[in-house]
Amino acid sequence: MLGSVALAVVAAASSVLASPLDLIKRTSPGTGTNNGFFYSFWTDGQGSVNYNNGDRGSYDVTWSNVNNFVAGKGWNPGATRVISYNGTWNGASVNSYLSIYGWTRNPLIEYYIVEAFGTYNPSTGATKLGTIVSDGGTYDIYRTQRVNQPSIEGTSTFYQFWSVRQQHRVGGTVTVGNHFNAWTQSGLTLGSHDYQIVATEGYQSSGSAKIEVSEGGSGDGGSTTPPPTGGGGSGGCSIAKYGQCGGQGFTGCTTCASGSTFWSS
Ligand SMILES: *[C@@H]1O[C@H](CO)[C@@H](O)[C@H](O)[C@H]1NC(C)=O
Repeated sequence: MLGSVALAVVAAASSVLASPLDLIKRTSPGTGTNNGFFYSFWTDGQGSVNYNNGDRGSYDVTWSNVNNFVAGKGWNPGATRVISYNGTWNGASVNSYLSIYGWTRNPLIEYYIVEAFGTYNPSTGATKLGTIVSDGGTYDIYRTQRVNQPSIEGTSTFYQFWSVRQQHRVGGTVTVGNHFNAWTQSGLTLGSHDYQIVATEGYQSSGSAKIEVSEGGSGDGGSTTPPPTGGGGSGGCSIAKYGQCGGQGFTGCTTCASGSTFWSS
């Protein structure tokens, strides 16, 4: 607490001088590694964003009157890993997203598995392409297009792929491969993986978050609707195909927990 108060004061005068505390703790915009994790901190420069890498896979970020920033910790390259995260996100009452967030090249794709969003639903106006049930929640699938916008390859025109969780949460396990498979089944094809982080994003807002990421956890096999053409494959458990097959407190059919092989075929 003391540290963040001091940093906030320093931030207001940061162009004049930096305190020792500021120099030790504060992370500049850009990408890098910290404690064996990749991190990315991007801002379009408006307002102020104070992003700090913390212990293990943790980071904290406080933003004020920004136009747009995205920051977080994770891995490079991205993969079909099982990601666990926990922490706090003070973004529910402002325009902010908490997401598994990443990029691919060839094609250039910016993707989001949105765990929680604030006042603006990023899928507003987009056509729902499908639904995936994974990790105890239901996510809606969308594609949007960005025209001449910032990307990992500079200003470019590219698609964004979205899974947006209906039951917002801050903390849990995300079986990323379930989303990639569901996107493929909805006709959304990723390219070669660049980075993959658990990101906090703010748009024309002020807020804060403190998040810790790690790899692993009890993921599940997931299921999608609409099913693949041809009857939905040859495995999985029929109860779970259109419904929940895992998650905390769920006692129904969980045969689909082995569904990773089902989807990998
Ligand atoms: C995440 O959970 C771990 C284990 O309970 C805890 O030590 C850590 O402080 C939490 N991180 C955050 C950012 O809340």
